[in-house]
Amino acid sequence: MQDLLDSALARIRDASTAEELEAVRVEVLGRKGVLSALSKDMGKLSAEERVARGKLINTSKQALESAWEERRDSFERAALAKRLDAEWLDLTIPAPGPRPGSLHPVTQIQWEIEDLFRSMGFSVLDGPEVETEFHNFDALNIPPDHPARDMQDTFWLEGGNLLRTHTSPVQVRGIEKLGPPLRMIAPGRVFRNETVDTSHEHTFYQLEGMMIDRHVSVGNLIYFMKTLLGAIFKRDVTVRLRPGFFPFVEPGFELDIRCLICGGPGCPVCKQSGWVELLPCGLVNPHVLRASGIDPAEWNGFAFGLGLTRLVMMRYAIDDIRWLQSGDLRFMRQF
Ligand code: DAH
Repeated sequence: MQDLLDSALARIRDASTAEELEAVRVEVLGRKGVLSALSKDMGKLSAEERVARGKLINTSKQALESAWEERRDSFERAALAKRLDAEWLDLTIPAPGPRPGSLHPVTQIQWEIEDLFRSMGFSVLDGPEVETEFHNFDALNIPPDHPARDMQDTFWLEGGNLLRTHTSPVQVRGIEKLGPPLRMIAPGRVFRNETVDTSHEHTFYQLEGMMIDRHVSVGNLIYFMKTLLGAIFKRDVTVRLRPGFFPFVEPGFELDIRCLICGGPGCPVCKQSGWVELLPCGLVNPHVLRASGIDPAEWNGFAFGLGLTRLVMMRYAIDDIRWLQSGDLRFMRQF
């Protein structure tokens, strides 16, 4: 009898999982378990023996039940400890700070130039990237049949609008909005329907500049262009001025700088010429002034269109324009 109880107790203590413990419970305490077996032959016992057996059954039942509960509690404690362990969180650990980003090199140079021109009394203007044909072409003295329209392959939109091919339309918008006298620059994104290669992108950045006043001369233009280039390169760059044709300026000039990638012998960026066209400029054509709503007999001015993207390539010796829009972090992290 005692043997039966001892082995039942041992089975309870040795149960190694909650499932096993449950099985042992059915086996030991259930209707077909050890305790039932002990009460089976009660009928054959004498009155005295029956009392003794009854006591034995009661004490055994209590012993088995408390052993079982103890074992179950130990499983529950272990499960809880395991869960707490998994969910534990140290709220005192300092959070990893935000990873510092950096400005795109085009943005850096744009902001530098904005600061420079603001210090000389220029306003910084914005214009729409989706432009009207009027602002992008006609008002700039480029009528529909003008060959200059072919110089800039255009993304035309439904309804006759277009993606601006240059920032020059902001000249017209600037005069329309602010009137003369006026000093403004307009940095921004422009679009050309071109085949992409090392020096051509369908999307790039320009910075337009314009000054309108009563007696603006080529001397004023040269002064501002020299100030601009000196501030940008912070060193001597070789420049040359050639006559250049743009319908919206008269006279028009091409200001070129010695290629900073190859220094002169020629490379893909300067198209083997040793020079990079950087700063086309000129005196604003009277047609543009008139189209913008002011009288060319009273007002005149100069304008320039800086290739921001190309300038960045020069400054950092970037030999492929496609890096700039690649979003490639190996490129971006260098700035
Ligand atoms: N808009 C011209 C282009 O994208 C550049 C340009 C030339 C702008 C002469 C000017 C200028 O303001 O005077 O090719």
